[in-house]
Amino acid sequence: MDKIAIIDFGGQYAHLIANRIRRLGVYSEIYDSSTPASTLRFMKGIILSGGPNSVYEKGAPTCDPDIFKLNIPILGICYGHQLLVHLLGGKVKSSGTKEYGHAQIQINRNVGVLKFMGDEQTVWMSHGDEVTQLPPGMEVIAKTEDCNSAAIADEHRKFFGVQFHLEVTHTPNGNKMLENFIELSGAEKEWNLKEYIEQLKANIQKEVKNRKVFMLVSGGVDSSVAFALLEKTLGVNNVYGLFVDTGLMRENEAKEVKESMEKAGFKNLHIEDASKDFFDALKGVTSPEKKRIIIGDTFLEIQKRVLKKMKLNSKDWMLGQGTIYPDTIESGGTKHAAKIKTHHNRVPQIEEMIKKGLIIEPLKEFYKDEVRTVGEKIGLEKSLVWRHPFPGPGLGVRVLCAKKAELPTTWKATEKKINDHLKAKKDGVKAYILPIQSVGVQGDSRSYKNPVVLTGEAPWDRLNAISTRITNQFSPINRVVLAVNPDEISKIEFVGPSLMTPDRVKLLQTADAIVKQFCVKKGIYNDVWQFPVILAPVKINGRAGETIVLRPVCSEEAMTANFYEMDFALLRKLGDLLMAVKGVSAVMYDITHKPPGTIEWE
Ligand code: XMP
Repeated sequence: MDKIAIIDFGGQYAHLIANRIRRLGVYSEIYDSSTPASTLRFMKGIILSGGPNSVYEKGAPTCDPDIFKLNIPILGICYGHQLLVHLLGGKVKSSGTKEYGHAQIQINRNVGVLKFMGDEQTVWMSHGDEVTQLPPGMEVIAKTEDCNSAAIADEHRKFFGVQFHLEVTHTPNGNKMLENFIELSGAEKEWNLKEYIEQLKANIQKEVKNRKVFMLVSGGVDSSVAFALLEKTLGVNNVYGLFVDTGLMRENEAKEVKESMEKAGFKNLHIEDASKDFFDALKGVTSPEKKRIIIGDTFLEIQKRVLKKMKLNSKDWMLGQGTIYPDTIESGGTKHAAKIKTHHNRVPQIEEMIKKGLIIEPLKEFYKDEVRTVGEKIGLEKSLVWRHPFPGPGLGVRVLCAKKAELPTTWKATEKKINDHLKAKKDGVKAYILPIQSVGVQGDSRSYKNPVVLTGEAPWDRLNAISTRITNQFSPINRVVLAVNPDEISKIEFVGPSLMTPDRVKLLQTADAIVKQFCVKKGIYNDVWQFPVILAPVKINGRAGETIVLRPVCSEEAMTANFYEMDFALLRKLGDLLMAVKGVSAVMYDITHKPPGTIEWE
């Protein structure tokens, strides 16, 4: 069977490349960076993935240089591009300007991955290093304003390198570029989903053996598809579904999930009310990572409690989870990957259980788009399969908690510099740094920094450019939001200490329900991939309450995302609706892509 190998250097994207190649109908397999060239000699092509390191750093991951002697086409992406240059005798250095986000490449030769790509393409960049000297035999085939070697080629040996990420949806023609590589590798299109599902079922049988599965379900896409797949493979009586009501769900979520799961034909589903356990465990905790670990651990405690209550022997039961690949990768779960955030299904206790073979996660290699395709293929209802994703920790990671205001030491100077920059560019907006922080992902690593809020009017394309410029050029900032209501700012105050309390969760549930209804009513629910609504402990212009931040994004697989450009008239209407809720001081709109922001704020 023809295969493309992907060598993983720990970035966010090795599995995404594998996903893209599968979707183009070709088998792909991921290999650790230490894999010897001899193992790869029968591959049709080799792709070197991105990664968070710098090739010139001590201990940075590398690969067997003999792969370049195998006479196989090789494509390096981002870190892989730099490594290819480094190993073949070129030079890589830290570049003055870090590039995160959209960029235009000017193409001077339509060869290799850039065949049929015309003179110019929009691509997605996320890097701080740059190739400064090419290895012998290689030439530049595309540049950007900030990067002299955005794409390089040695046509003769079929070696190619791209500084940008062609595997993400933000490189609109990325799939075609990948298809160009597949074509020049000569790999046959032999992969198909139906066979793959049969293989998944066989794997489930093999892993579970004669045990049963106790499955944690959330009503979301991933755990529903995993549950259905397990039921179909093992039979209804061998899979017990437990929905844990954490008290951190959306308004009426428990009831709606039960109804929708019953409608979808799930029989063995039970609900456990554990809101008190979650609130007790989270009392006084503010660190986002600590909150995530506590939430993950509490899920396990509840599972154990239910097993005990039902007098089930834990030896006969495995724990089933709907974990998908981004959960693993963002939790730092592969060899060189940086930890962005610990997903609730990847806490240390779970990692221990995985090592002991006590956990089954049938979808752990998949991205959301594939999970949805599997869900449809095995007959789940469209409305369930196409629900917006909702994270396991729920509003637990959307109610921001902090004991005191957090501002960078240089905040006054930074704020001034940002405003000087906006003035010089005649952007027509003003920026203020907010006294809270949120998680971001920059150059494949985690950041925890402050957002700025913009006031003033500008069209979406201008706001888009401003947002990218601010996060690229001002390192204390990883997120940009727009003031919706009020639209002028005279005073910003931190509200605190702000902790995880039922009252704050209730306020966010109310706001979140208004947003959801509004989107359905205005017909924009399906334009958005996911719509987190965040409660931030910030008071504006002295008006009592806290700030609601709207964070609608467009994505396919959550590894990268664009903020959604809502019609301004609709946005103002939504802002007014939310301001009518007691406890809402202001409404803001997140205009940060991922990267540099993550989808959730924590
Ligand atoms: P971020 O915020 O990292 O989120 O851009 C990417 C996607 O993952 C979801 N997410 C989670 N899902 N458990 C989950 O099941 C978690 O702990 C978790 N954290 C984030 C997030 O909603 C988005 O779709």
